[in-house]
Order: sequence, then structure tokens, then C-alpha cells
Amino acid sequence: MTATREPILTVRGLEKHFPIKGGGLIKRTVGAVRAVDGLDLDLYPGEVLGLVGESGCGKSTTGRAILNLQPATGGSVKFEGRELVGLDRKAMRPLRRDIQIVFQDPYASLNPRLPVFDIVAEPLIIHGLTKDEAELRERVRTLVETVGLNPEHTNRYPAEFSGGQRQRIGIARALALEPKVLVLDEPVSALDVSIQAGVINLLEDLKERLGLSYLFIAHDLSVVRHISDRVAVMYLGKIIEVAPRDELFDRPTHPYTQALLSAIPLPDPRRERSRQRIIITGDVPSPANPPSGCRFRTRCQKFANELTDTQREKCLTVEPPLESRGPAHQSACHYAAATQVL
Ligand SMILES: Nc1ncnc2c1ncn2[C@@H]1O[C@H](COP(=O)(O)OP(=O)(O)OP(=O)(O)O)[C@@H](O)[C@H]1O
Ligand SMILES: [Mg+2]
Repeated sequence: MTATREPILTVRGLEKHFPIKGGGLIKRTVGAVRAVDGLDLDLYPGEVLGLVGESGCGKSTTGRAILNLQPATGGSVKFEGRELVGLDRKAMRPLRRDIQIVFQDPYASLNPRLPVFDIVAEPLIIHGLTKDEAELRERVRTLVETVGLNPEHTNRYPAEFSGGQRQRIGIARALALEPKVLVLDEPVSALDVSIQAGVINLLEDLKERLGLSYLFIAHDLSVVRHISDRVAVMYLGKIIEVAPRDELFDRPTHPYTQALLSAIPLPDPRRERSRQRIIITGDVPSPANPPSGCRFRTRCQKFANELTDTQREKCLTVEPPLESRGPAHQSACHYAAATQVL
């Protein structure tokens, strides 16, 4: 499905480095947190690309840098062929409509002092998209209905809604400008498991109805497996493996992906019993000082147990590029498994 079409969003070598200031009177820059450190990804029209990885690996920073909410410090983000990196606020404004973000925490991301009508209407007013009050009311009504909320309740405040309803308000607001791409930053992680499915179903339905493309950031691998067409795995600011969903879950080739996936229970008890669990030891290294060569090597079981000294030397000194492992399947490991069935 994705092979022949042009991506709607192309990210190449994306960097977001946060300066670390020293102490003392003159706050000199003494280093950088390399939150996103050379990240490549493509998002195709109509697809859901899942983005997974441990806490702190740079998922949210990637989302914000793509939207230019926190400008990238390097690399390129192209939306329908147009470069976004380096655009100032004014130049970004017309493009802002096309890519919108939904945040994890609907409590923090909605202004508690505004009624729902104002929250959803605000982007329409800022962008001058409705000609009069009647059209604005109609548009807000439609948006609120679209996300499954009662349009009679738009005079209420966020605090009067449940978590799931609040996330629907956030989605209505994000849809107000009729975007083509939604960056969903852990959109259901803050919600009770019992209401996650309703929001996920809504997102799937909206994608089909409105022809959207999603960059779907999440921790929860079962949610990602459910919703994604392809999945990208991130480690310390970089993509280390990307593949079509089933290919990634059934035949991961990067030791990190293998370890992440080996932690999820398999539905088939026979396979579950016979399977080896791979434990990732140690903490994620600091993004201010990533390891030389392969940045996963300090926690890599393969590096620790399977490689010869000569092979290890390569991991210590050469950063592995993303290499093809099969149709639409890439991973960044010098000694990636051919296609290991877990
Ligand atoms: N404004 C900032 N200034 C300095 N460092 C930052 C800033 N924002 C994020 N970071 C650092 O960048 C790294 C990546 O953070 P980010 O929030 O993108 O991770 P994440 O993958 O979204 O994590 P989580 O799963 O916990 O949401 C972290 O080390 C974080 O501390
Ligand atoms: Mg995050």
C-alpha cells in the first residue's frame, strides 16, 4: 500500500539539541541534550505510523519539532515537499493548519477557564475561517458531534467532562483546521483502559472518514499493534528499526526491538512457553552523552554475549545506519538478525 506513493511527511536527519548551561554568573553552554539526534522517517498518505520507545528517548520532542512548536536544531522536515525547518512563525502559519497535534494529557492541554465552545472555536477564529457567528456555531457543533460529544454541552468547562470526553474535545480542536496529518502524542495513555478503546475507535473512524494520516506516539505496544500500519522504534533520539506492523512484531531484526517485544506476553501459550525473554539491563544512557558507535551497545545482549572482539570493535566505533532487511523493513544494527521469528 505504501510502496508506490509519495510520503506526505518526510523527516531526514532531524535534530533537536537542548543546550545545557553551566553554573556561575556567565551561563555558558557546556553541552547539549541530544533529545532527537539524526532521525529519519516517512509518513504516507492515509497511514498510521506508530512511534515507540522507552521514556525519554525523544518521541514527544520529535512530534513537537515536526510541528515547529520547538524548532529543530538541524535536519529537514518536508510536508508535501515543502521544507518546514527554519520557517518563522509567520511563514509557518498557513502550514500550521495541515499538521495538528493531540497531547497525552487532556487535563493539561485544555484551558480550564474556557468553555468547550471557545476551546474548539479558537483555532477557527485565529485563522479567520468562518465568515460570521452563525457559521462559527455551526462549525463547532459539527466538530463536537464528529468526536461523539453532545453539542448541547459546549457551554460547559473541561472540568465537567470525563478524561475520555476531554480527549475528544482535544481531538475536535485539532480537527478544527481540517488538517491532513495528526501527531498523536500518547493520546490514550492518560485514560482508563476501559475508555481507551472508545477513543482509539474514534481515531480510526476519523482517519477513514477524513482521509487523515497519523504519527501515533505510544508506550503501549498492544495499542500500537492494533492501530498502526507501520511501526518505527526509537532509541536515544534515533529510529533503530521500522517495518510494516506484522513484519515488525513477527520478525524484529534489531536486538532492542527484540528485547522490547519479548516483554509482551504472546496469546499462544505454547509459543509463550518456548520463547526466550530478552532482558534489557541497565538504564538508558544520558542523551547528553550517548555511547560512541552504536548507541544501543551498552545494553545490547548480542554485544555482551554473542559477538567476537573484532565484531564488537565495529559496534564501539561505527554508528550503524538504517539498512534494508526486506520490503519496507529497515534496521540499524551491524549484526541484525536475518529474520528471527519470536
Ligand atoms: N525543554 C527541554 N530542555 C531540556 N531537555 C529536554 C527538554 N524537553 C525534553 N528534554 C529531554 O529530551 C529527552 C527526550 O524527551 P522526550 O520528552 O521527547 O521523551 P519521550 O520519548 O517523549 O518520553 P516519554 O515517553 O516519557 O514521554 C529527555 O532526556 C528529556 O529530558
Ligand atoms: Mg513523551
